[in-house]
Order: sequence, then C-alpha cells, then structure tokens
Amino acid sequence: MNILIVGSGGREHVIASTFIRSPLVKRVVVSPGNPGIKEIAECRNIPVDDLDGLVKLSIEIKADLVFIGPELPLVMGLKNKLDILSIKTFGPTLEAARLEGSKIFSRNFCKKYKIPQPHYFECKDIHTAKKAIKFFKGFCVIKADGLASGKGVIVCDNQADATEAAKSILIDKIFSKAGDKILVEERLEGVEASVFALSNGKQFILIGTAQDHKRAFENDKGPNTGGMGAISPAPSINNQILDKIVKKVIKPTINGMIKENTPYEGVLYAGIMITKSGPKLIEFNCRLGDPEAQVILPRFKFDFLKLILSLMKNKKIDNNIKLLSPEIAITVVMASRGYPGHFEKGFVLPNLKKYKKDKKIKIFHSGTKLSNNKIISNGGRIFSVTALGDNVKDCRKRVYRVLETMNWPHGFFRKDIGKIIDKKTIS
Ligand code: AMP
Ligand code: GLY
Repeated sequence: MNILIVGSGGREHVIASTFIRSPLVKRVVVSPGNPGIKEIAECRNIPVDDLDGLVKLSIEIKADLVFIGPELPLVMGLKNKLDILSIKTFGPTLEAARLEGSKIFSRNFCKKYKIPQPHYFECKDIHTAKKAIKFFKGFCVIKADGLASGKGVIVCDNQADATEAAKSILIDKIFSKAGDKILVEERLEGVEASVFALSNGKQFILIGTAQDHKRAFENDKGPNTGGMGAISPAPSINNQILDKIVKKVIKPTINGMIKENTPYEGVLYAGIMITKSGPKLIEFNCRLGDPEAQVILPRFKFDFLKLILSLMKNKKIDNNIKLLSPEIAITVVMASRGYPGHFEKGFVLPNLKKYKKDKKIKIFHSGTKLSNNKIISNGGRIFSVTALGDNVKDCRKRVYRVLETMNWPHGFFRKDIGKIIDKKTIS
C-alpha cells in the first residue's frame, strides 16, 4: 500500500515508523516531514494547510490511505476534500473535528449528551465574561473558542488575572478570530490523563492511555508547553477508572456524533481530569497527542495499519485483542533553551544515530532542519527520546542515561518525567 502521512513533528515520525513495520506497506510519503522522518520515508514539502496541494500529492502517489497527523488540516476539512475523490482517509471530517476546533461546540455537545465536564459559560463580550469570572471567584479557566496553536487556554486563580486573560482574547484579539468567543469555565482539580480511541464512526477501540507533562519545568512549574514528556500507560488510570471513562465519555461521544449526523471517524483523544467526583472531560482532540503518540505507538505489538484498515472496513473488532505490549514507555522532550518563550534556532544536534542499535530506545525528530548536511534545531521542541522498559524505574534510567550522555548545551529537558506518581491519584 502507498500511505501519505500529513505533518512534520515527533508524532508524525512515530506514526511513520509504526506504519513501516507493517508488511502491508509498500511506500510511505510524509508531507512536510522532517530530517528524522527522511531517514525512514520519503518527504515532500507541501505544508499542512495547503489542502489542494495535499490532495494533488495524494493523487500523484496513488495513496491507498491518507493519515492526517495535526489538527489544523482536519479542522480545515482535508478529509472532506479527499472524500469527494474517494481517497481513503483516516481522520474526522471538518464537522466532526469541531470537537477540537470549537471548544464551545465541544462543551455544548457534552452538555447535550450528559458527558461529565466542568461548569462553563459561553461569552461573546467582556461584560458577560466578567460576570462568569465573578461566579467562579476568579478560580477558573479562560479559553479561546477556536484553534490557537495550543496557547488558547489560560488557567487562573484570581479575578484580576482572569479578567486580564479574557480582555486579551476578546478585546486585544491576541488569538485573532479564534478568540471572537471564549469559554469561562470551572477550574477542575485532580489528576490529568489522556485516553485514546480509534473509531470508524460506528464502533471504536481503545488504543491506550498516557500522561503528558505540560509544564516547562520540574514539579509541574513554569508555563504550559505543547508537552515536555509522557508516560504510557497513564499511572493514574486503573481498569475501574478506564471503564468509567469509556462508559461516560467515549461511548456517549461516538453515539452522540452519530445522532448529530456527523459520525466521528479517526483518532479520538480525550483529555480527562480524574476528580474526587469521578473523571471529567477537560477537552477533546481529534488526533494523536504529541508527545503521547511517542509512548503509545512504540508499545504497539499489533499491526497498527491493519487495525485501522479493519476498522475502516467495519470489520468486527474483538475488544479483548492485546494491542500493546505490557511494557512501560517514557518519552522525554529536548526543548530549545527559552521555550515556550523566545529561543534561538540553528544549533547542530548531538549525534542521535549512535543510539540506533538499542532496541529499547527510539528517537523522534520534531523541530529539526537539514542545513549544509548537518541537522540543526529549528523549533521549540526539538526531538524526543523514548525508552521502553519493564518498569518505571528501568525506563527512567534508560531514557535519562541517553539524554545525559548527549550533554547538549543548547537544549533543556525535564528530569522528572514519569516520576511524579501524583499523591492525589485516586485508586
Ligand atoms: P488544553 O490546551 O485544552 O489542553 O489545556 C491545557 C491545560 O490546561 C490542560 O492540560 C489542563 O492542565 C488545563 N486545563 C484546561 N481546562 C481546565 C479546567 N477546566 N480545569 C483545570 N485545568 C484545565
Ligand atoms: N500533548 C498535548 C497535545 O498533543 O495536545
């Protein structure tokens, strides 16, 4: 089969490396890809928001399957365009991708289908936003409705900060049109975890759980980032909690989307807060997480591509099949010094090839670029190192041995990924 993967990050690198393990694959093309992906697949330089260019590329390479990595082309409707040409695509339509593309749509959908979530107010102007902020006494979360490159969520603990956040979005338009409307919502407390399912719009199968580490610095200090590391399975989710999440969040979502006439096909990512009163939905995403994909896919022992194809053909999937190895996976992101604020680019990367022989270590490129035959840093998150192991301790030892021997002065990484087994964990 010929496969086109859309995207250029660590997530797309691990997706490509998982697909090429399948005997069904003849050719993998990634657009735009990155230098790490180029070592295992072909790369083209059509950007993820050039929908017509990507459609042309799918035709040119005779793609038997298009897998869309990031949210932007999904929310823009790449799947809809490919559907018209009967090019098989795994991902939601733009109507279904509203679960991520509009936070207000998502909250109203959850309300309609009784999916547990925080209390919220939808606000179009600062006057209503101020009232909502007062209702929560400032202990709330302010969210731009639309996509804002992962920066549209501001967690607040007092009225002054919350009002400032609401003003910056609604009046100063820091996220332009994505902030025409905002959510002011209850700030939940508990332990966070992510649950991933694949769906064909009718049936779904869980593929794994992970815990992201979103803050820039150790002990969950510092600004929010796209994710500094992850562990799978999520230490805070036991079978009982997972059953609740499936029953109260995943099932009603898949069924609700059918009722709305927008069946959900693709990866469904549920960001969950496990609170004292049970799991509640923080947000939906319509894709695999980054860096969560770097810990879930390396654990796959079942053929990931075959699973997707079986789902797309609506074959009955046995929920008891063992998709993942029982191993633990931990990934740690090497980020540019200064990220998520200002940072310099263009530093030559450490020699990553020397870790290739170790079967328990995988390295995935994110913000990298080829320049004069050298791979240089080209983004906030540069690459991630994933280790597999029988337990958390071994896994941490393995991953940090690699990062420490790199001794690379131009980046930083969190030293506590997978370490915080949160004291608030509910068992
Ligand atoms: P998002 O960009 O939606 O993933 O949100 C970023 C982070 O903000 C989440 O991972 C949570 O840590 C936090 N967050 C979002 N919504 C809430 C909420 N209602 N209560 C508490 N924390 C939240
Ligand atoms: N790691 C968070 C995300 O992919 O949205």
